[in-house]
Amino acid sequence: MIDPPEHTAVRHLLLDGFRAQDRQALHHGLEHQARDMLARLARLSSFDFVGELAEPLALRFVTAFLGVPAPDPAWFVPMSRAIVDGMDAGLWPEKHEPAVAARAELAQFTGGWLADPPENGLVAHVAQEAAGTDVQPDVLRNSLRVVLHAGYESVSRLLGNAAVAMLTTTGAAAAFRSAPRAAAVDELIRYDAPVQADARVCVTDTELAGVTVRAGDPVTLFLGAANHDPLRFAHPTELRLDRAPNPHLGFGRGAHACLGASMAIRLTGTVLGILAGEYPDARAVAEPEHRRNLTLRGLDRFEVSLRPRQTGRRN
Ligand code: HEM
Repeated sequence: MIDPPEHTAVRHLLLDGFRAQDRQALHHGLEHQARDMLARLARLSSFDFVGELAEPLALRFVTAFLGVPAPDPAWFVPMSRAIVDGMDAGLWPEKHEPAVAARAELAQFTGGWLADPPENGLVAHVAQEAAGTDVQPDVLRNSLRVVLHAGYESVSRLLGNAAVAMLTTTGAAAAFRSAPRAAAVDELIRYDAPVQADARVCVTDTELAGVTVRAGDPVTLFLGAANHDPLRFAHPTELRLDRAPNPHLGFGRGAHACLGASMAIRLTGTVLGILAGEYPDARAVAEPEHRRNLTLRGLDRFEVSLRPRQTGRRN
C-alpha cells in the first residue's frame, strides 16, 4: 500500500533477505518433500491435488523460506481465504470487513515472529537488519504478512492451475519434458495466471484509447487479459510450453513486481517435472472445481490419479 520513496527501504530489506537465503538447500529440501508426497499419493486410486499436495506444499515452502514453524492450517487457511475474498470487495462489499480483520490478525501473528525471531530464514534476516533502516515496525510486520500470504496463496494456486493445464491438454507432459523448464513454467503462468488483476492509482492525467484517466483515479489492471492479448501473443488460447519470447504479466511489473518469482518458478518446475517425468499415468479423474474469486484465480478441488487406469478403489 506504499509507493517509492517510502516503499524502497522495505523492498530492499526484503530483497536482501531473499538473496541471503541458501535457496539451493531450501529447494532441495522441498524437492524431497514433493517427491515423498507424490509417492504417498500415488498409492491412492485418486486424491485432491489442491488439498493434499498444492496447499500443504506451498505452506511448507513459504514457512521454510521465512524460517518459521508452519501455522495451524485450521487457523491460517480460513483467514487466508478471507483476505483473498476481500480483494474482490469492489464487487462484493460484504467481503471487506472480514478481510480487514483477517489482515490485522495475521499481521499480529507475523509481528510475533519479529518479537521473538527465529535463528535462520528471511524473518531472522529482517529482524536483525531492520534496526539499521528507517522501516517502521508496522510496515515490516505487514510486509511479512504479505510474504506469508502471497507465498502461500499464489504458489498453491499456481501449482493447481498448472496441474489442470498439464493434465487436461493433450501432449502437455511430453512437451513439458522437452521444453526448457523455466519457459514451460512461464507459459503455464501466462496461460492460467493465479493473479488476474492488480491495482494502481493514476499519478498524472492520462489519455488511453480515448478515455481520460485522472490523477488520483484508482485503476484495475487485468493482467490475465493482458496475458491473452492476441496483439502480444500468437494463438493466445493455446498452451505452447516452448513459447518464446513470453512477456507475460503474471508477476506484475515495476516497483512492486513480485519478490518470489524466481523461487516460485523453480518450485513449480520441479513439481511438474516430477509429475511429467515419473508419473506417465497421471490424469484428471474429475473436472477441476474453481474458487469463487476474481482477483486471484485458483482451484477448490482437482481430483487426480497417478496410477494406471482400472487399478481399483481408493485405499
Ligand atoms: C515464493 C512465493 C511468493 C512470494 C514470497 C511473493 C511475494 C510477493 C510480494 C512481497 C509482493 C509485493 C512486492 C512489493 O509490493 O514490493 C508480490 C507481488 C506480486 N506477486 Fe508475488 N510472491 C510469490 C509468488 C507469486 C506467484 C506464484 C505469483 C503468480 C504467478 C505472484 C504474483 C505476484 C504479482 C502479480 C504481484 C504484484 C506485482 C505488481 O503489483 O506489479 N507471486 N509478491
